[in-house]
Amino acid sequence: MAKAKTQFICQNCGTVHSRWVGKCDGCGQWNTIVEEDPMGGIGSGPGKMPKKGRPVALTTLSGEIEEAPRIPTGLAELDRATGGGFVRGSAVLIGGDPGIGKSTLLMQAAAALSRNGHRVVYVSGEEAVAQVRLRAQRLNAADTDVLLAAETNVEDILATISEGKRPDLVIIDSIQTLWSDTADSAPGTVTQVRTGVQAMIRFAKQTGATMVLVGHVTKEGQIAGPRVVEHMVDAVLYFEGDRGHHYRILRTVKNRFGPTDEIGVFEMSDKGLREVANPSELFLGERNEKAPGAAVFAGMEGTRPVLVEVQALVAATALGTPRRAVVGWDSSRLAMILAVLEAHCGVRLGQHDVYLNVAGGYRITEPAADMAIASALVSSLAGVALPADCVYFGEISLSGAVRPVSHTAQRLKEAEKLGFSSAVLPTASPDLPKGNRKWGEIDSLPDLVARIAGSKLKSSQQAVED
Ligand code: TYD
Ligand code: MG
Repeated sequence: MAKAKTQFICQNCGTVHSRWVGKCDGCGQWNTIVEEDPMGGIGSGPGKMPKKGRPVALTTLSGEIEEAPRIPTGLAELDRATGGGFVRGSAVLIGGDPGIGKSTLLMQAAAALSRNGHRVVYVSGEEAVAQVRLRAQRLNAADTDVLLAAETNVEDILATISEGKRPDLVIIDSIQTLWSDTADSAPGTVTQVRTGVQAMIRFAKQTGATMVLVGHVTKEGQIAGPRVVEHMVDAVLYFEGDRGHHYRILRTVKNRFGPTDEIGVFEMSDKGLREVANPSELFLGERNEKAPGAAVFAGMEGTRPVLVEVQALVAATALGTPRRAVVGWDSSRLAMILAVLEAHCGVRLGQHDVYLNVAGGYRITEPAADMAIASALVSSLAGVALPADCVYFGEISLSGAVRPVSHTAQRLKEAEKLGFSSAVLPTASPDLPKGNRKWGEIDSLPDLVARIAGSKLKSSQQAVED
């Protein structure tokens, strides 16, 4: 057998190098290369000789499909994000910043499942038993039959959960603390994390237990360790939120058994996470309806409409290069809208700082928000408050045209439910509800600017230039 060479693996992206280098070729990060023993890698157990393969039966694409058996947790927002509950025999990865509430969420889910007679094992690698008990007490979960262990060794964990009756749900908090005897590298390295996760997934597939794995997120917002972990599991959820706010959003980014555009909304309280069934009310919370620069966007998250306020502040700059700061939205998308405003609407912003904020620590990912953002910008620049009872949505193209977006009827229905009686939306929006309602239909950005600012903008622009 050839002598095994050590490998040098980037801890950020998992790229394998044959020698140590300061900068990873794969992701461009510095100082992320660590020497690891390839014996611990996938399918390369020590001294294993290739065995002779066994043919498997090939089958066809048509045939009976079984609905994936699920265990609903009873936490409606969590079930919504997973697509109806945890699928038996699947592995789910939950990522999030430290302190965002991953352990809290999973303890609440564990308690709820346990109350429904499921066998739940919670393996904590980060906190001692006493700490976990303390949290359970705070969450009113201490009286449930959730089984608890504080352990980090993969073999010991497997031996523990294989013993006795098969668990329905196993929670591993977190994968970064897992270490296996079969891999030589230090705990927390790519090889260790990968080996540990692989062993856990194998257990889930073999026994039909659901495996929930907690993963930390790096500064860049990715699950720490290799991307391969995300490929290995069946579902990846991110638990996000702003430290300064109480809202937490559970976002599905991958789901082999359900939709990926759903979110679950929670609010962190002193008794744990509270489900928020109507997020729009939350994000419209403390609205000052008379202030210029605020527009309500009628958005969609998966199948659910969400109304949220976007706030813009456009002010004459004192700096050579004006500032552009964005919270909760894509900054390159803002640059695009500013460029379209300048090029097609004659709105000059070269002498203005632009600040944009999405209320409540919420993050908008939809291009349909373009129209609301443009409205907020123009409203702030012109010093004209937008009508308080109006919502905005529509995508803006580089030519200045406004394009229709999907789910018009649902967006309008939600707006109406929350007391908004008018809407500014793209011309020729599909499935626009019939009736005597009058919608402000806009087909280009100059139209929108004229509608909001009228002649006001010209005089304010003149003032800046004089
Ligand atoms: P935790 O679940 O430990 O976060 P993670 O596992 O993602 O690191 O949650 C930590 C934060 O949540 C901590 O700052 C305290 C707060 N918290 C509450 O506000 N209320 C509660 O009932 C609990 C249990 C935690
Ligand atoms: Mg934790």
